[in-house]
Amino acid sequence: MLETEAVTSRPAAIRDTTPSTRYAYNYAYLPPLAIADAVSPAEAFSARPGWVHLVSRSALKILVNSIMIRAKRKGGSTEFVPQVLNDLKTVAQLIGDDRGDLRNATAMAVEEQGSPTTLPQLKAFLEAVIESLAKNLDLKTLLDIGQKLGQFETVSGPASNLEDYNQLFQFIPVPAASRNFRDDSEFAAMRVAGPNPLVIERMKALDVRLPITDQQYQAVMGTHDSLETALADGRLYLTDFSVFDGAINGSFPAAQKFNYAPLALFAVPPGGQSIMPVAIQCASRPGPGNPIVLPQDGDDWLLAKTMVQIADSNFHEVVSHLGRTHLFVEPFVIATHNQLSPTHPLSVLLTPHFEGTLAINDAALRKLVVSRGLVDRLSASSIDQARVFTVKAVQSYQLNVSFSTLPQTLAQRGVDDTSRLPDYPYRDDALLIWGAIGRWVKDYLSHYYKSDAALQGDAELQNWVAELVAHDGGRLNNVGEANQIRTRAQLVELVTLICFTASAQHAAVNYPQCATMAYTPAMPLAGYAPFSATRNGSGERDFLKFLPPLEMAKLQLDILYFLGSVYYTRLGDYGDGYFTEPVIQDHLAKFKQELLEIEEKINERNKTRTPYEFLLPSRIPQSINI
Ligand SMILES: [Fe+2]
Repeated sequence: MLETEAVTSRPAAIRDTTPSTRYAYNYAYLPPLAIADAVSPAEAFSARPGWVHLVSRSALKILVNSIMIRAKRKGGSTEFVPQVLNDLKTVAQLIGDDRGDLRNATAMAVEEQGSPTTLPQLKAFLEAVIESLAKNLDLKTLLDIGQKLGQFETVSGPASNLEDYNQLFQFIPVPAASRNFRDDSEFAAMRVAGPNPLVIERMKALDVRLPITDQQYQAVMGTHDSLETALADGRLYLTDFSVFDGAINGSFPAAQKFNYAPLALFAVPPGGQSIMPVAIQCASRPGPGNPIVLPQDGDDWLLAKTMVQIADSNFHEVVSHLGRTHLFVEPFVIATHNQLSPTHPLSVLLTPHFEGTLAINDAALRKLVVSRGLVDRLSASSIDQARVFTVKAVQSYQLNVSFSTLPQTLAQRGVDDTSRLPDYPYRDDALLIWGAIGRWVKDYLSHYYKSDAALQGDAELQNWVAELVAHDGGRLNNVGEANQIRTRAQLVELVTLICFTASAQHAAVNYPQCATMAYTPAMPLAGYAPFSATRNGSGERDFLKFLPPLEMAKLQLDILYFLGSVYYTRLGDYGDGYFTEPVIQDHLAKFKQELLEIEEKINERNKTRTPYEFLLPSRIPQSINI
C-alpha cells in the first residue's frame, strides 16, 4: 500500500524527522474517550505569555467586579469610591501580594490619574490598574487569585427582584440580554443566533409527543395559517430537549437543582423570514400535568420559556461546547504529535489550530467536570449525569466523523434550505467560513499531494489515520471511506472539519458565554424549582423561584465571563513567515482576503436580519484555547 515512489514524490523541503512529543492516551479521565495522559511543558499555558496576559486581564476584571459588588452592598453611594479603594488594599493582602504588584499598579494609577472621586473616574482608574497588573502576573499568582476569589464573599441567598441580578454587574458591563430576554422575539433569536443555535430542526411530520391542536396553533399564528399548511411548507421547527428526560438532577453545593426536557414549537409565518415561538410543553411526555403553554398564557409562558433556556444552557455547555468542540478535537492533536513529523505539511497546517487545546482540555477535565468541581456546582444535572452527556456528545461526532461536517449536520436537522428558513444567522455565517477554510485547505494540500496516489503513499499520513481510528488510539469511526483516507477530497473534508471546529465552531459556542449567558436570568445553568411549580398561577416571584440564588448567579457570571472574554490568536494569522513556500503564501493571502470580505458581508447582513456577531472572522481564534 505504501508506495515508495509516492513518498519520495513529496517536496524535498518536507522531510521526515522524529516527532517532537509522543503522547500516551488515557481512557480513564472520561471513559471511554481518548484523552492525552499528560500535557507536555511545550503545550502548557506557562509557555504562552500572551495567553497568560489575556487571561490575567479577564480574571482581574472579575476580581474588580467582585470588589465593587461588595463595596456597593456595604456602604451607601457616597462611600462607594473610598470603599472600593479600601477593598483593593484588603485584596492585596488576601492574595498575598508579596512582590507588591497590586500595590504598585495602584500607586502608578494614582500617580497618573490622581485619586478617583467619582464613579466614571473610579472605573477608568481600575482599568489602568488592571492593564498594568495583567502584564506582570504569572500563572501561579493568577491561580492563587482564582482560588482566593472563591473565598471572597459578595452576595448570597435568593434574589428579591431582577434588579438584584443586574447589580452583579458593577465593573463588567451588563449584557444586552438583560434588557430584552423576556421578549418572544429574543427567545426566537436565541434558537438561530444565540449561544446554542444547534438544536433547532425542521419538523417532517407532526409529533405525537406534542399534541398541539389547530385551534391552539391558530390562536398564535392566526387563522390564515394552519398546522398542516405550515408542515407542508416546511415552516414548522422544533427544539427537542427530550434527551434530558429522566436525567439525574444535581444538588451540589447546597440546593436541589432541576433540569427540564421541554419541546418547543416554532413557525415561520407564511411569506415570513424568522421563526416565532408557538408553544412549549415543559416535559417531553404529554399528560394532564403537562399542558401545552402558549404565548398568551402570561406568566406561565415566561416560566416555560425559562425551562427551555435552562435545558438549552445545559445542552450548550456539555454537548455543543465541551463535547463537540473541545473534546472532539483532542485525538486529532494527539495523533498529529505521534505520527506526523513537525515538518510534515499537514502538521505544519494543523499545529496553529491546536495551540492550547490539550492544556485547556486538561484543565477542564481536572477542575470542571469532576465531583465538587464547577460543573457540579453550576449545572442542573448531577456530575455523573453531566459526564455521561459529555461522553455521548463526543461520541455522537467521533464515531460519525464523516457525518459531522457543517453541511451534514445542517442537512440532518433539515435547516439547510434558506428558502424555508431564511433568517438563520449562525448557519449563513458558518457556511461562509466553512467554504473559505475548505478552499484554503484544498489549495494548501493540493500543493503537497499532486495525486490521490501520492497521498496513499504517504506513510506518515496513513499512520496518522490509522492511529485516529485505532482502539488503542483516537477511537474515531466513519473517517473517510471505511476508516481510510484514499483521496484528496476525503482529506480536504476531514482537515476542513478539524480546522473549522477548532476555530469557528468553537468561537460560535464559546463567546456567547460572556455576551449572553453571563446574565443568569436570560440563560440559567440550572432551575431551582420543579416544572410542576408553574401550574399554580405565578408572577415575578414564581419566576424568581426558578432562578439560581445570587451566589450561583455570581459564580455563573464569573466563570462564563472569564471563558467568553479571552480572544487569543485570530483565524488566518499564522504569523509572518510561518509558511516558507511562496505558493502557500499566495494561497494564504487569498484566504485572508476572503476572511476580510466575509467580515464585511456579515456586518452588512446584520443590518437586515437578527444581528449575529460571533462568527465575524476578526473574533475567531485559530484554536480552542479557552
Ligand atoms: Fe471553550
